[in-house]
Amino acid sequence: MQPYELKGQGGEAWTRPWWRGAVFYEIYVRSFADSNDDGIGDLPGISSKLEYLKGLGIDAIWITPFYPSPQKDGGYDVADYYDVNPEYGTLADFSHLVDRAHELRLKVLVDLVPNHTSEQHPWFQAALSAPNDPHRARYYFADAKPDGSPPNNWESAFGGSAWSQDKRSGQWYLHLFAPEQPDLNWWNPAVPREFERIVKFWLDKGADGYRIDVASALFKRKDMADRPMVKDPLTGLPSPDLKFKIIDQPEVHDVYRAWRRILNQYEPARVLVGEIFDPSRQSRYILPDQLDMAFALVRAPWGASLWKRSIEVDRHASPGPIAAPSWTQSNHDLIRHVTRLGGGSMGRARARAALLLLMGLPGQVFLYQGEELGLEEANVPPEQRQDPFYIRSGGKEAGRDGCRVPLPWHKGQPNAGFSKAAPWLPMPAGWDSLAVDAQAESADSMLVFYKRVLALRRRLAGMLPNRLKWCPAPEGVLVYERGQLSVAVNFLARQVEVPARGRLLVGSPPLVRHQDGKLTLPANSGAWLDNVGGPDGL
Ligand code: NOJ
Ligand code: CA
Repeated sequence: MQPYELKGQGGEAWTRPWWRGAVFYEIYVRSFADSNDDGIGDLPGISSKLEYLKGLGIDAIWITPFYPSPQKDGGYDVADYYDVNPEYGTLADFSHLVDRAHELRLKVLVDLVPNHTSEQHPWFQAALSAPNDPHRARYYFADAKPDGSPPNNWESAFGGSAWSQDKRSGQWYLHLFAPEQPDLNWWNPAVPREFERIVKFWLDKGADGYRIDVASALFKRKDMADRPMVKDPLTGLPSPDLKFKIIDQPEVHDVYRAWRRILNQYEPARVLVGEIFDPSRQSRYILPDQLDMAFALVRAPWGASLWKRSIEVDRHASPGPIAAPSWTQSNHDLIRHVTRLGGGSMGRARARAALLLLMGLPGQVFLYQGEELGLEEANVPPEQRQDPFYIRSGGKEAGRDGCRVPLPWHKGQPNAGFSKAAPWLPMPAGWDSLAVDAQAESADSMLVFYKRVLALRRRLAGMLPNRLKWCPAPEGVLVYERGQLSVAVNFLARQVEVPARGRLLVGSPPLVRHQDGKLTLPANSGAWLDNVGGPDGL
């Protein structure tokens, strides 16, 4: 993972930083591995599984927030940015994790949550202590409208008003997420100053960079104006105009420029990954003096033209000759993609084909824990759900617990070997049949398939150009060439044949090659071919 030399098209050499083309793996700390059998994942649990991750073939991990937190939003409500939640371990455990990861040449990204703190953060507690406390200026406190309603009509991402009342002063405070997550006022210089300290803190502890939570939201429009109401095209009812920008103010770029200057003082390169999904906004952030990456989320319904469009939109969102998207299908906020793709054996077949399609593209890849096991969205009984999204919607939204159920490690063991105690979210019956050890021994398992594709990708890395060419293909099929790699995916529910040169590197399910230069692709399948190497290939 040292930077290595590449030759540009004109023969010039440049150094490629470790993260270009890297495969990242998101760890949802509470659900990954539990070292002390209390039913809750933790940092020593992660350390104990680093060999597993190395064996999987990834380059870096991103760990979701592990700070002290009342856990009103899975740790995205941070009470202390400079410590570790005792449920998850200690600062020494973090250092040990980083050291072990680095020995294995794995990088470690920390999740930074700059948009809001927990209501338990000392700043907010001080702010609540008196109506004239100076800490109030670090949040958004405002008076009600003359009719007594909240200061404006902005809505929380979890439903309901984005304002809650501070009973003591009668004023209201802003929270774009849960009421326990008051938004910081980035216009107040104390806020950017504090975050520069936090950024340095974890880099000094060995972190290789950050995933930045709601990265475009830090500054709110200064006039705090109501969102105009427009007619919803689907329901015909009045609804807030989402085109009216309340976040994404130009000042946010100065913050990332300042952070970049800090990161530039560290060697080897440290990275900033912004949680920004809108491709049309990304080119303002992914710049040499700001962020390195944002997420290219592919969640189109299964269909060749929809997937091609989604891929192309993201490819065009990445400016410059060497920037390339960071492909993502799942994370801790989304329904697991095997389920999105139809579930069961069909969902898993499509997920394999989708992996081949995305892994062959130029760019980085972000995997979410458990996708290598083909996990589906779990059905969590309503009384055991914990997500504020579920709770605040009064049960209308299923919430995100179904993708956060702990990982199954061992077949035949209680709680699938995650913990001797009942896990913090219950596992579905039979979850252990998907366990890591069960899949490791089965040649046609999802886990073995992921390892195979990741190993091939690593072998090809550096040999493949950043450009790709879409090739003519029957409707419902996508075929592209990227240097000597050809990728073909059949989205149809029936078998098709496509012309194909070269040697089959990997296929799912294993594919039959016709002798007359045609590849047979069963329903929902994909293949990688070496299109220049001839029979012995790459
Ligand atoms: C995005 C995170 O991924 C999500 O889990 C969280 O609820 C919100 N940001 C608020 O921090
Ligand atoms: Ca634990």
